[in-house]
Amino acid sequence: MTEIDQIQTFNPVTDLDKIQHYFNVDKKPFVIRNVINSNVDLKYLGKHFGHQNVIALNDNSDKETLLMAELIDKINLGKKYRLRANTKLGNLLVPQLDTTYLEKIKGSGSHLFDHLLSFGKTSRQHTLFLSTRDCTFAKHAHIISGLIIHLYGQKTWYVSKSYDSFGSIKYKRLVYPNPLYITDKNPTNEIAFTVGPGDMIYMPAYWFHYTHSDDVNISYNHFFTEKIQYYLNRTLLMFLYQSFTNPIHSFIKAVRNEPEEHIFDRQQVIDNCNKIKNDIQRQKALIFFRDNDYS
Ligand SMILES: [Fe+2]
Repeated sequence: MTEIDQIQTFNPVTDLDKIQHYFNVDKKPFVIRNVINSNVDLKYLGKHFGHQNVIALNDNSDKETLLMAELIDKINLGKKYRLRANTKLGNLLVPQLDTTYLEKIKGSGSHLFDHLLSFGKTSRQHTLFLSTRDCTFAKHAHIISGLIIHLYGQKTWYVSKSYDSFGSIKYKRLVYPNPLYITDKNPTNEIAFTVGPGDMIYMPAYWFHYTHSDDVNISYNHFFTEKIQYYLNRTLLMFLYQSFTNPIHSFIKAVRNEPEEHIFDRQQVIDNCNKIKNDIQRQKALIFFRDNDYS
């Protein structure tokens, strides 16, 4: 598997066939600059969704349930908050977005697992992310792929140059049953790129990544699963391990809760760390998870 040493970048005048080929065959992260004109900002979210209750992560990476209008007031006062994978707002926002270009890239086919994403009250495919300055996340990967339209502000993405090995994944049993894999950040093995309003990113399933927010920024993330062959050919061990260890828990959670309620449950991970009997290993695990920012 060849590495990437810079992010593949397209723009709307690039031949669509070329982008679709890269999306369907190369299956590596890429950016398309300026695919839409976005008018979404904090004011827009306040006007349309201010009365909605949301679950946000605060400066301590703990969950807080509050009205979107209250969250925006706190953000405007300079407080650190993050909305992760919010399906409620994602589903409300998507009819107001021009996703024509995204649909052209993705094509019309849905795959077997996409039906699991559509379970529950709202579709998991449409999610909103909102982050403030210096929000970041542990380096992670997940079974779903994302086509992400950045809507407001700037954010820097850090992605591995290739698939990470199954052996490099840390704390599989501690993060469980959160449907995430975690590994160490390693700048020498990563590429960085910054996105702004209107840019679209493709992040393939199980490709490790994290972001750092340069300032307040908003994005719409369209999540989907790849064809089964993708998982079998490219990420077999990561796929099999989660398929065998996690399906029942994931399924129950997926049906009962919205992803923002459990996509990363910091307290549960800390509780799992505290169950480690060996003192040194327990302390190491606690330091790893306490030092990472999950906002
Ligand atoms: Fe992610």
